[in-house]
Amino acid sequence: MESIQFKIAETNEDFDAYFEHLAKLLTERNGVNGFPHFTPRLVVPEKISFLEKFKSELGKPISERNNQVFIAFDDNKKVLAHCVLQYHGIESIKHRRHINGFGVCPEHTGKGIAKKILKEVVSLCKKIDVEYLDLELFATNLPAFELYKKVGFEQTGYTKDIARIGDLSLDDISMSLKISEFK
Ligand SMILES: CC(C)(COP(=O)(O)OP(=O)(O)OC[C@H]1O[C@@H](n2cnc3c(N)ncnc32)[C@H](O)[C@@H]1OP(=O)(O)O)[C@@H](O)C(=O)NCCC(=O)NCCS
Repeated sequence: MESIQFKIAETNEDFDAYFEHLAKLLTERNGVNGFPHFTPRLVVPEKISFLEKFKSELGKPISERNNQVFIAFDDNKKVLAHCVLQYHGIESIKHRRHINGFGVCPEHTGKGIAKKILKEVVSLCKKIDVEYLDLELFATNLPAFELYKKVGFEQTGYTKDIARIGDLSLDDISMSLKISEFK
């Protein structure tokens, strides 16, 4: 049976596998029925500078890193899902982290991977005394909205017309989780 493992990316192999997964999600697999999950953009040319923001911080303690990425991977080290945890580096908000990128590859959705990766994120937050997680998602993204509600996130805001993609105007929902209320 396939086994799925979770870790914070730290080796070149981890980052290459993460980027391959991300490039597919952001380009070929971004959304359904014309509604994107992420702001569409070209990814591949940005690879080196994009990964540098993670790699340059590996020498710092985990609690001080501004960006780190959790990955779920299979026996062949293929990345199946990712979740980026961001810290803005400001002392007064060090009790909060932002989820800034999250996705499971379409062949592996519906298997509980997103919930498990969030459990890993929450477990790290507890260790480093982080008390809240914040995120935003497009209002059309019902699977993600349902997932976040299910694990305990609450809606905190709604912004109309946050992004325009061609003729499509997208709204944005903000949500927060109190770590102690994760389900
Ligand atoms: C949203 C997403 C992360 C869910 O990942 P997943 O691994 O399939 O989710 P899980 O299997 O862990 O599901 C956990 C819960 O989420 C909710 N959920 C997940 N997919 C759902 C769907 N298609 N419709 C409704 N609810 C859904 C359910 O409440 C589910 O609990 P249940 O299985 O007990 O019903 C995944 O569909 C995805 O990567 N989508 C594209 C990228 C994206 O939208 N990222 C978020 C941007 S903010």
